[in-house]
Amino acid sequence: MVQYYILCSGTIILIEGTVTHFIHFEPVGRRGDAPAGETLLDHARTLGVDLVSLCGGGGGCGRCIIQVLEGEVSKPLTVELDFLRPEEIGQGFRLACCTIPQSDCKVRVPPGSLTSLQRLEIEGDEMSVDVLPITEVYRVVLTPPTMDDPKADAGQLTDALARQHDLDGASLDIDVLRLLSTYARENVDPNSGEWHLRVVLREHEIIGLLQSGAPLLGLAVDLGTTKIALYLLDLNTGQTLVSHGLMNPQIAYGEDVIARIAFSEKDISNASFLRELVVEALNQAVVEMCAKADVEPFSIADAVIVGNTAMHHFFLGLPLKQLARVPYVPAITSALDIKARDLGMDLMPGSYVHLLPNIAAYVGADHTAMLLAVDIEQEQHVTLAIDIGTNTEISLFNQGVVTSTSCASGPAFEGAHIKHGVRAVNGAIEHLHLIDDRIEYQTIGNAPPVGLCGSGILDAMAQLYLAGILDKQGTMHDHPRVCTVDGTREFILVDEVDLSQEKVGETPQLTISITQQDVRQLQLAKGAMRTGIELLLNANGLRMDEIDHVIIAGAFGTYIDIRSAITIGMLPDLPLVRFRQVGNAAGMGAKIALLSRVKRAEARVLAEQIKYLELATHPQFHTTFAHKMHLGSD
Ligand code: FES
Repeated sequence: MVQYYILCSGTIILIEGTVTHFIHFEPVGRRGDAPAGETLLDHARTLGVDLVSLCGGGGGCGRCIIQVLEGEVSKPLTVELDFLRPEEIGQGFRLACCTIPQSDCKVRVPPGSLTSLQRLEIEGDEMSVDVLPITEVYRVVLTPPTMDDPKADAGQLTDALARQHDLDGASLDIDVLRLLSTYARENVDPNSGEWHLRVVLREHEIIGLLQSGAPLLGLAVDLGTTKIALYLLDLNTGQTLVSHGLMNPQIAYGEDVIARIAFSEKDISNASFLRELVVEALNQAVVEMCAKADVEPFSIADAVIVGNTAMHHFFLGLPLKQLARVPYVPAITSALDIKARDLGMDLMPGSYVHLLPNIAAYVGADHTAMLLAVDIEQEQHVTLAIDIGTNTEISLFNQGVVTSTSCASGPAFEGAHIKHGVRAVNGAIEHLHLIDDRIEYQTIGNAPPVGLCGSGILDAMAQLYLAGILDKQGTMHDHPRVCTVDGTREFILVDEVDLSQEKVGETPQLTISITQQDVRQLQLAKGAMRTGIELLLNANGLRMDEIDHVIIAGAFGTYIDIRSAITIGMLPDLPLVRFRQVGNAAGMGAKIALLSRVKRAEARVLAEQIKYLELATHPQFHTTFAHKMHLGSD
């Protein structure tokens, strides 16, 4: 046993302990021995877990929140009570810079406490699902035909499947038939002279022929309005071989779906032009991913694509006009299986693309996928599931029933229509804190600041509100950092003085501010979101405090500081422990549906059972929205 002292936020703490403790950080999967006396923040740094620490570890910013799941740690410091409620401390939430292990510990790091670069690693985590894909590979041995038995190759194959695998009545895709004769004669066993084939079946249809040693692959795609996420999976092991992200190329023709529908209505060829843009981007991405994994696109036997209803319709070439007009009707909500080649996708010759079911015009298959990923139907408690994006989809699970709605939250949280808003690129301010009129900030990649991304914008709003610079109505008041530019008040977050002091040697960047107009945009976004939550609760006869769990999905939702979102009233004022940030759950749901035909069937049933709540015509919409635009928790 040794004794040692630490200084944290002006307090000296006496610690007794053994020389090292073994600390395991989840879900980043880093672990190692911690020298006695190190805080969890120190140890996280040593192990390469990049915790946000705006104040440098002095207990001043409250950003390094972790949850101790197992093991003994030092007692909470008074300073921690400024950032954590007693209930949260009771659940093991602590500030990493104020917490010292006193035994081996298991520590959970919430996504919002990680810097962006680190969070990308978490997105690669595998989910657990029983691998039961809809396609299977069968080895078949054929005897080459002779003059005495000149049986057709296709007949030989189907007979052999029946004889060798009890698979009667298999049909043959026309493109596979075109390849079969040549393929069979190229796969001759040198010893026996027989043809050894690897045949891919989807239920009773032969959809492909695999070369010796080629893996059976699948493709999962989350086709977002802004970004597209693709995952290449091994259908035997369930392992993700390559993940790939790209911007949706349609963005040049409208940043939201309404603008793209308007563009598609301007000319008869525009919709197919937008469709081709996406298909081309997907095919290109598949080629790049396959090259990375050293496999062939022809080995991709199955694909699952999810997206919002408009993206789904664009991709399939379905009419869009009715989606944007009262009463907002999709062309179809049911799940679909379509030959990949009919959609222009270059995969295994006879393969299919499966599209999960949509729920309504503005609650698409991506939300179905999210609900599948979080296993909403297994919930035992009242659960709110929110996928925050340009269009935010919200579902409330209560006593076995899921009610869903959607609200137009706009692109403000993606940095659009915000004076210094940027996407989550290197140099984007992702977190900030106002300390004694000084701004402490953290940028993605620790690069010189270039603007504010969504989580930074949210923090800025919350900090200004807490400091009384913004009032409940969102009006900006006087402060040494507030100035008027072109008739609009704005709060200077980063100016050249900041840069020259804090990033010595860097070229000074533009002044970065948040304006009164930015605040109004964000109020609209957060007001829409809270209105959706409120009306869902009303429809279920529930109060806000009866929500047991809040699941937050989507890139923006994953990276926000929950406390900032609560502070401005974007999320319900509930203890932190009730929130769970799950990342790209739509992508995860697409992967699950790809790997498991059971889960794919569950998604169909789930979508059919969901009740949809229309906000646009709801009698309480306008009054609730006006109220929820106000800042502050309630
Ligand atoms: S780093 Fe822990 S409070 Fe700032």
